Amino acid sequence: MWVYLNGEILDSSEAKISPLDRAFTFGEGVYEVIPSYNKKLFLFSEHLSRLKSSLEKTFIPFPQELTNLEEVIYQLHDMNGFLNQSFYIQVTRGVQEFRSHQADPVIDPTIFISSQNLEINPYRLNPERVGLRARLEEDIRWSRCDIKTTGLFGNVLSLHDPSKERVDEIIFHKDGIINEGSRSNIFFVKEKTVYTPSLEQNILPGVTRAFIIKLLKENDISIFEESIPIDFINESDEIWLTSSTKEIQPIDYINERELPKKNTESQIWKRILRLFD
Ligand code: PDD
Repeated sequence: MWVYLNGEILDSSEAKISPLDRAFTFGEGVYEVIPSYNKKLFLFSEHLSRLKSSLEKTFIPFPQELTNLEEVIYQLHDMNGFLNQSFYIQVTRGVQEFRSHQADPVIDPTIFISSQNLEINPYRLNPERVGLRARLEEDIRWSRCDIKTTGLFGNVLSLHDPSKERVDEIIFHKDGIINEGSRSNIFFVKEKTVYTPSLEQNILPGVTRAFIIKLLKENDISIFEESIPIDFINESDEIWLTSSTKEIQPIDYINERELPKKNTESQIWKRILRLFD
């Protein structure tokens, strides 16, 4: 696999980052995941804006090298060859020789870009296949989930707990209110109206979330961004997850309980997935 590291395209086996990088010592890094379809990046400028916002919020200077990000990504795209790919762009505060909590103001950010084959959404191939399995969990993450940080311990911790069953996604809630998935945003449908947690909550402003809200509005489907209590799960006709790699995928099981199947012919998620095309 070809990767980009600080201005150079290298074979991944040649890419070396110092252990003194603050991403290693302090977990100080932000990232983006950008999908491509048929060799074309999808929603590139939206991802770039969020990357800029994550950098600003973490006081990491915007690296000049990122001004030609799109070009670099297309170069990697050609070299890695897959038709559809997901690009991971990671920017850290940089390498600091002398360990101190206070970062040296002159260090340069580290930029690393890799890509992998983007699997076709299995629900696009077969919308009738069984939906995802999710587990509800108390949200133990920090209170700045609006920043897309590589410090994802809170998101992945329970995935590694051997006493817990393997699931496709964890749905985080706090104080009785649903926030988002560990790696996705969440949508609910009740009586033909769509609901999703508001950006005022502690969630990532998903690029796919925003794109879907736009599609819903353009197609005159009511959408509300508001607080969603846990009980809403039992009252919903559909629950779906969205992300740059998942697009839209439905949930069928929460905490091992199968959600009742309702109106399968006219499900809104299927319509939105078709509109995605
Ligand atoms: N995850 N919420 C969280 C916590 C996420 O990690 C993601 C994406 C989303 C959806 O955001 P978007 O639609 O912009 O991809 C919401 C990516 C795909 C990942 O970390 O691999």
